[in-house]
Amino acid sequence: MTTSKRRYHITTFGCQMNKADSERMAGILEDMGFEFCEDPNNAEVILYNTCTIRDNAEQKVYSYLGRQAKRKHEQPDLTLVVAGCVAQQEGEALLRRVPELDLVMGPQHANRLKDLLESVFAGNQVVATEAVHIMEDITQARRDSSVTAWVNVIYGCNERCTYCVVPNVRGVEQSRTPEAIRAEMEQLGQQGYREITLLGQNIDAYGRDLPGVTAEGRHLHTFTDLLYYVHDVPGVERLRFATSHPRYFTERLIKACAELPKVCEHFHIPFQSGDNQLLKAMARGYTHEKYRRIIDTIRRYMPDASISADAIVGFPGETEEQFENTLKLVDDIGFDQLNTAAYSPRPGTPAALWENQLSEEVKSDRLQRLNHLVNVKAAERSQRYMGRIEEVLVEDQNPKDKTQVMGRTRGNRLTFFTGDINQLKGQLVKVKINEVRAFSLTGEPIEMRQALPV
Ligand code: SAH
Ligand code: SF4
Ligand code: F3S
Repeated sequence: MTTSKRRYHITTFGCQMNKADSERMAGILEDMGFEFCEDPNNAEVILYNTCTIRDNAEQKVYSYLGRQAKRKHEQPDLTLVVAGCVAQQEGEALLRRVPELDLVMGPQHANRLKDLLESVFAGNQVVATEAVHIMEDITQARRDSSVTAWVNVIYGCNERCTYCVVPNVRGVEQSRTPEAIRAEMEQLGQQGYREITLLGQNIDAYGRDLPGVTAEGRHLHTFTDLLYYVHDVPGVERLRFATSHPRYFTERLIKACAELPKVCEHFHIPFQSGDNQLLKAMARGYTHEKYRRIIDTIRRYMPDASISADAIVGFPGETEEQFENTLKLVDDIGFDQLNTAAYSPRPGTPAALWENQLSEEVKSDRLQRLNHLVNVKAAERSQRYMGRIEEVLVEDQNPKDKTQVMGRTRGNRLTFFTGDINQLKGQLVKVKINEVRAFSLTGEPIEMRQALPV
């Protein structure tokens, strides 16, 4: 007789932090003897790792949950878990809304999943949302990719941007030690991972909470120091990081990126608005002039660097003229990519209570106008790749054309070319670009370099 393994399913909403948390939680579930299952309807443990950054992200979670809650009435041994930012924001209130839930757990508790589930299996309904010191993880994450990986360097956020729920749901900043970060990276290098993205909501805050200062009174551990400390991890050929905050972004960091060959020339630095009055109302702590200076400095050191960012339109009180300042900034800088969003009032944030909210019509009109400009500028930026030779790290098959593989350039442009994924996965390939689109490229391979021996 064969006993089939118990199956789990995870759906992840939201940002890279949530994706990284999900990979660690999947690792814990596999360690407990569960097997991944694509279809939630065939799984015995269903985990939704949720996002609450905007209202539509939160509403999506409730519709997914509703379906599984119904299923639980026919299948009472189903275990339903809500993790992540909605769990943290709603806490016990989620149990009242969806009584079928077994476990509600905030992001700080991701590494405790095993203990929490054991308590559920012992018959409890569990809520874990209290602020805790995040445990160093000892379980192997189950990573989605075998080529690129995320490594958290700092959890939480101590900023107080007036629109943002993240500080409420992710808690105060907690930096991992440089040793723990490097150890995880070394292991990834040994396992064949070629690219690592270092993660933090405000990565420039790295080290502020770690002990020690230098003779000049600087924190002993800054993000720049961390880059120097980890840049030579064997096997890893590319390093990226996100997210940068213009308030703390330093020339020292730019210099380190220019100097360290593995650090890719791509910077993700959200500006949110191109208008100084709005930036002030958002409590961002910089002006558009300062933002422009940062980009100028990056381009002085690395003329070809890719720049991406996030922006919000329709923040409370935004006038047409202030919105046009955002358009102007986007036009002047020429972003390679820009994530745009209409402002969404969030519970527990100051701006949600202000009376000068804009109508949905105005917000969506501005969002459309901004998106149009973003596309035009990205297409312009892509032109510079035409005819050039770019290094592409092959990650996967092109799902739309199995004769092609796909990967990213150092500047983070998605690139397709003809090739066999079984031979090319994880390889750095020189590709001559012969087709450019706003957000992707196509080319021909001209040289295959074997990955460095580990
Ligand atoms: N830590 C990053 C951003 C994290 S949230 C930073 O400081 O920039 C990701 C993006 O979501 C933000 O950059 C912002 O553009 C958007 N966002 C956050 N709160 C929002 C809200 N209430 N409405 C609309 N967009 C929001
Ligand atoms: Fe939110 Fe601001 Fe923190 Fe970014 S820096 S996560 S926008 S509070
Ligand atoms: Fe969403 Fe939480 Fe990330 S609210 S954007 S998943 S930090």
